[in-house]
Amino acid sequence: MKCGRISSMKIIKNIQELKTHLKTLNNTIGFVPTMGALHEGHISLINQARTENEIVVVSIFVNPTQFLAGEDFEKYPSKDLADSKICELCGVDILFMPNINIMYGEDEITIKAPNTKSYILEGLMRPSHFDGVLQIVLKLFNIVQPTNAYFGKKDAQQLSLIQQMVSNLFLPINIIQCEIIRDEDGLALSSRNTYLSKDEKEKALNIVKSLRVATQLIMKGNLNIENIKDEMKQILQNIEIEYIEIVSRSFTKIEQVEIKNSIILVAVKVGNTRLIDNIWI
Ligand code: PAF
Repeated sequence: MKCGRISSMKIIKNIQELKTHLKTLNNTIGFVPTMGALHEGHISLINQARTENEIVVVSIFVNPTQFLAGEDFEKYPSKDLADSKICELCGVDILFMPNINIMYGEDEITIKAPNTKSYILEGLMRPSHFDGVLQIVLKLFNIVQPTNAYFGKKDAQQLSLIQQMVSNLFLPINIIQCEIIRDEDGLALSSRNTYLSKDEKEKALNIVKSLRVATQLIMKGNLNIENIKDEMKQILQNIEIEYIEIVSRSFTKIEQVEIKNSIILVAVKVGNTRLIDNIWI
């Protein structure tokens, strides 16, 4: 873990207390929303927020509305004690840990993610997932009112939709996109990696391998999307592929790979664990 500043961090569970506390501070606020089970990926977001803002707020809330029936909401890893230690060591000023009853009421006004961008790829596999993501992110933005909010490129479609929400709803917040963090073998870090057995982890390494092969093909001048996807499918043949796709960085269809404007996205299931990864070209 690469952070080393011990702060006097405040853990706040109540919205009014958080708002009152933030009102007393007249500083730039860097915000890192999370669902907990923090890993080096989150730590890199927190570190970036720490260097770019006077106050750093992290939230931990496993948001029920972004999980579909049958997904892992009930067993999503929860590590509150370890997470708060990590935040403290990383110099977080405020750790916001609300419960469900505080964040949601009955029969709420909801957010509807845009049809074109939200019901392809992740949104096709997980219909209404992004409605729930935008709902909670908007609530958190309204509570924290950050100057800058930090999101990882690993959830590329989520990141793009949050950028669109900020633009469409004229929210005065800068969205900072942060690089994907990988373990020493190349597996993109995710809280769900803890579900993988040793064998499954070995299989999962083919995801990054397929993305690297795709990048090499592109560097050699092959910009044909179907060719690249076929090569990737070969590498992923022992894994259940949900989708392999190459789209523009704003998630529109492209005829061929466009350098500096494409993302190659992969979603697979390894055993019972769903993993996503991508590379920005
Ligand atoms: O990326 C996540 O961890 C979640 O989707 C987020 C942004 C914290 C909203 O619940």
